[in-house]
Parts: sequence; structure tokens; C-alpha cells
Amino acid sequence: MLVNETLIEFADDLSELDSFLKKFKLDKYYIVIDSNVYELYKDILANHFKNIKYVIIPSGEQYKNIDTVTYILKELLEANITRGDYLIGIGGGVTLDICGFVASILYRGIKHILIPTTLLADVDATVGGKCGVDFLNRKNIIGTFYEPKGIYITPYFLKTLSKDEFNSGLGELIKYAFLDYNFKLSEETNLKDTIEKAVLIKKQYVEADFKDNGLRMCLNLGHTFGHAIELKYNLLHGLAVLNGIKMIFALEKDLGIDVSKEEIYFNELLDKYHLTLNNYDYHDYLDDIFKDKKNFNGVLNLVFVKDFKPYLYKTTRGELDDKLKG
Ligand SMILES: NC(=O)c1ccc[n+]([C@@H]2O[C@H](COP(=O)([O-])OP(=O)(O)OC[C@H]3O[C@@H](n4cnc5c(N)ncnc54)[C@H](O)[C@@H]3O)[C@@H](O)[C@H]2O)c1
Repeated sequence: MLVNETLIEFADDLSELDSFLKKFKLDKYYIVIDSNVYELYKDILANHFKNIKYVIIPSGEQYKNIDTVTYILKELLEANITRGDYLIGIGGGVTLDICGFVASILYRGIKHILIPTTLLADVDATVGGKCGVDFLNRKNIIGTFYEPKGIYITPYFLKTLSKDEFNSGLGELIKYAFLDYNFKLSEETNLKDTIEKAVLIKKQYVEADFKDNGLRMCLNLGHTFGHAIELKYNLLHGLAVLNGIKMIFALEKDLGIDVSKEEIYFNELLDKYHLTLNNYDYHDYLDDIFKDKKNFNGVLNLVFVKDFKPYLYKTTRGELDDKLKG
């Protein structure tokens, strides 16, 4: 699959990784990886990468920051990285977002390849070129749009993923069930095919609106409230998104929008994957969401769903309060 100019390969395991890598002129490369993934996969990776130079970063969202970016830059420059060299990010969404960001700013842009190792990164954190870091307790507030040359996606790595992290990925996957009516997640059985279908949906949004000025914002379904609770309660990203979808449905209902069919399907999917959500009340987070980076001059683009189609609901805080009172 091609998304813009990024070549994406879907595979059951690592058996096609070598032929995939041969498609790029990988004379010299550096692998950015977090300490967990490194420990779990260093021996396996040694079968596919020769003369590897690793830059190992600590694992976790709390390290998705400028300090980690400067650490990587320092390591790369001390190892004499040149403009023609590749960065290869192997890991979850945190590692890949940081790796892409470093690739985008070093020498004003070097080539990079991403190999996701979490379900969340498989379905959501590789395609589309958004990369960056958190700052001052705000998610992804510093970043760039910068696409990798290649992405190799396989469920192979998921066998070592914790149940919680797997469930977090399911959160983003369930989101796609409300972005494309034809994606029948309740009927899906093969994980690799399911991931590919989710990526195909993302491709359509990304290619139509790469810089996130309109249609692509629909991919943020569940993220506006999700971001408000994610850092506050230290929730895993996908679970924050699922709670965010539940909060959006509650808000839509209070505005008189009928989302009963969507709610039934949402609950069916939660049951299918044995997921339980918290009972966050969206009213408590209205102040936070109007501080979100998707707030342009006081107007917030909320992603609503109606008849299994997402759309942008533009509102100011004042307008929303009036409608909720009335
Ligand atoms: N760029 C985008 O478009 C985009 C989209 C969605 C999410 N994101 C970002 O992705 C991040 C979340 O990604 P994530 O959930 O993958 O988190 P993560 O990268 O922190 O990985 C989760 C944990 O799993 C470990 N891990 C990774 N692969 C493993 C494996 N195969 N086996 C065992 N452990 C493994 C990691 O070390 C980490 O501790 C957030 O920062 C979010 O903002 C980005």
C-alpha cells in the first residue's frame, strides 16, 4: 500500500522484512528504540540488521519530550550521522512519534522508516506523518508533519505486549468502526487483515487532508475529551480515546442528537473485546477541551458521529453552554 509517498507493507511476521528493507538504499542507519523493545527483540533484530547503531531511549509517555529529542540528536551527531543516513524507529507510538520528529528536524529532514511494535502504533501511529512530543503537560504540542519512506506492519511483535497495552490499541481500532460505515469490526477475525483495513481508512483521511485542516480532524474522534483525561489520570492512550468517544456520545445526546444506534454498536464492541470504561462526566472537562490545540480563535472542532459517519461540529464555549442550557 502507498500512502502519499510512504510504502507500507503488511506481513504476518518478520519473514518479509529483509526484502522490504532492500527497497531502500540503507547504506548507513541508526535505530531508535525504547529500552523494553530493545531487551525483548535485540537478538531477533540482529538477524535482520547488520552493523546496527542503536539509540536506546527510556520507555513511556513521560519521556516523549524535548529532553529525549535532544538526547537522540546528541547521540546521532556524536556518531557522525550524515544527511543521507536513515533513522529507523522500532517501537510503540511514543518511540515512533519521537523518531519521526527527530528525522524531520535533523539537517532539516533525513529519511526514516518505521516499524511499529504495539497494536496502537500498527493502526494509528505510523501512517500520516504526524510526529512530535508533549510539552508543559500538553500532548503532542510540539511537532511536525513528516512522512516516513517506509512502514513495515506486522502483528508478530504483539505476542509480548501486555494486555493493557493491547487493549489500548483496541481503543484506536474501535474508533475506526465509527469512521467508515463499511468497516465491520464486529465481524473481523484476522488481526493482520483488520489492521490493514484500519490503515486503509486512515489513508483516505490523510490523503484527502494531509495538513489536518478539515476532514482529517475526524480521525480525532474521542481525542478531544480523551486528551483531557489521558495525562490527568495517566490513562493509556487508546483507553482515553474510548472514554472520550463515550463522553462525546453523552454530549451529543444532551444536544438532542440521536446516537442510540452508535451507542448500541459501541457497547457491542466493548463486550466483544471485554473492555470496561470509567464514568467520566464530560461537563468536568469542558474547560480543558477549549484549551486543546484544535481550538482556533475560541472555536473548537468537536468530532461528532451521526448515522455512523463522523463530522465536525464547530462551537465556541459560549454557544455550547447556551445549547446545553436550552
Ligand atoms: N503519530 C500519530 O499519528 C499517532 C496516532 C496515535 C497515537 N500516537 C501516539 O502514540 C503514543 C502511544 O503509543 P503506544 O500506545 O504504542 O505507547 P508506547 O510507545 O509507550 O508503548 C507502550 C509500552 O509498550 C512497550 N512495548 C512496545 N512494543 C512492545 C512489544 N512488542 N512487546 C512488549 N512491550 C512493548 C513500550 O516499551 C511501552 O512501555 C502516544 O504518545 C500517542 O500520542 C501517535
